[in-house]
Amino acid sequence: MNILVIGAGGREHALAWQCAKDDKVQQVYVAPGNAGTALEPKCQNVILTDKKDADEHSAVIEFCQNNAIDMVIVGPEAPLVTGIIDACREAGIKAWGPSAYCAQLEGSKTFAKEFMAANNIPTAAYQGFTDAVSAKAYINEQGAPIVIKADGLAAGKGVIVAETIEQAYDAIDDMLADNKFGDAGSRVVIEQFLQGEEASFICMIDGDNVLPMATSQDHKRAFEGDTGPNTGGMGAYSPAPVVTNEVHEKVMTQVIQPVVDAMKAAGHPYTGFLYAGLMIDKAGDPYVIEFNCRFGDPETQPILIRLQSSMVDLVAQGLAGTLPSQADWDKRPALGIVVASKGYPETSSKGDVISGLPELDNKDSAVKVFHAGTAFAHGTATDNLTADTQHDQDKEIITNGGRVLCVTALADSILEAQQAALTVTGAISFEGAHYRRDIGYQAIARNS
Ligand code: AMP
Ligand code: GLY
Repeated sequence: MNILVIGAGGREHALAWQCAKDDKVQQVYVAPGNAGTALEPKCQNVILTDKKDADEHSAVIEFCQNNAIDMVIVGPEAPLVTGIIDACREAGIKAWGPSAYCAQLEGSKTFAKEFMAANNIPTAAYQGFTDAVSAKAYINEQGAPIVIKADGLAAGKGVIVAETIEQAYDAIDDMLADNKFGDAGSRVVIEQFLQGEEASFICMIDGDNVLPMATSQDHKRAFEGDTGPNTGGMGAYSPAPVVTNEVHEKVMTQVIQPVVDAMKAAGHPYTGFLYAGLMIDKAGDPYVIEFNCRFGDPETQPILIRLQSSMVDLVAQGLAGTLPSQADWDKRPALGIVVASKGYPETSSKGDVISGLPELDNKDSAVKVFHAGTAFAHGTATDNLTADTQHDQDKEIITNGGRVLCVTALADSILEAQQAALTVTGAISFEGAHYRRDIGYQAIARNS
């Protein structure tokens, strides 16, 4: 079999690595991939197009037709929101993910909130606004803390949890008046502040059947103790002890099944990964903070290092409408630490040479370094390095984005997994590298 994985991050490295482990698989192409996917056995990076959006769909279809691709797995949300799955289906190509209609659950916060209200899915009370004056009046009425969200896609950064009314006003000015988030912020959703512990609940859905992935929790804030700005995620671990069997059951019946039923009733059966970002309150009741129409990043890395079933078989069953209700998981917990580049999340740094990376394809190691924003250097370190994702053994590996690596470890306890990941992370260095040493602290506190 030949597989095409679309995307360039740590999630895609983990997906490609899992697919390549299956003996049925000859070649995993990753478009455009990173240095990690280039070095992975049986994996090869490909550049399909330097254009975006609509053109990207036709480039994917052409590549699949010319390279006998049996299955496409789409990692990031942007191509899903613009309809890559619909385009592939029309061309008779098997592609795993939701249609553009279903992907609105992530693509528009307003769509998601209206969908949840219509289907009694528990979530924070909210109101949508396009003008600053009425948004501020609403904030005054509600008081702080309060949460301001850009309506469209903003790479996980379009959410401001405002502790004070002034911070909330500033967020409104940034989004609605100063247009800091572009079109994504021309409409905002203002939400009630939810309290509790967060968890990521990710499943595979084939239109009817639901296969929950192992539970996980990520750390969205940039700095230790969950402080600093929101990021795409600075680390994650699996399982999340906050999701007890009872909470799991509630999430399935109150959140996931209503999505499956409502999408089917609307004539748009949900297929692909579905990610519910949850707040679990003291009573163990889940509230949806957000839906994503894809696997989480960095949650994928600790989740997939635990997966013992074949990812390829699961996706094939998903495409055939025969998903099982359970997969096989390593009982041991896993934890991943994201190493970010200088300036992340406000900016990111490219071209810094990375040293201290362990061997990538050490099969027996319980630590795996998944790459995200990495590439091979063109030029020498004294020149201006430019990036290339094509495999070239002689070239140094350099940073090529905000989140650079996710060092992921499996161990007998979450604390041991944290320590194992920290040991490997500590040996890796590049200019401006930063990471959190406290990933998993909530689970560690519960266990001790
Ligand atoms: P989102 O991109 O919607 O997942 O939001 C990013 C982060 O902001 C979440 O992971 C939460 O930590 C926080 N957040 C978002 N919405 C709320 C809310 N209504 N109450 C409390 N925290 C929230
Ligand atoms: N880790 C959060 C996300 O994938 O959106």
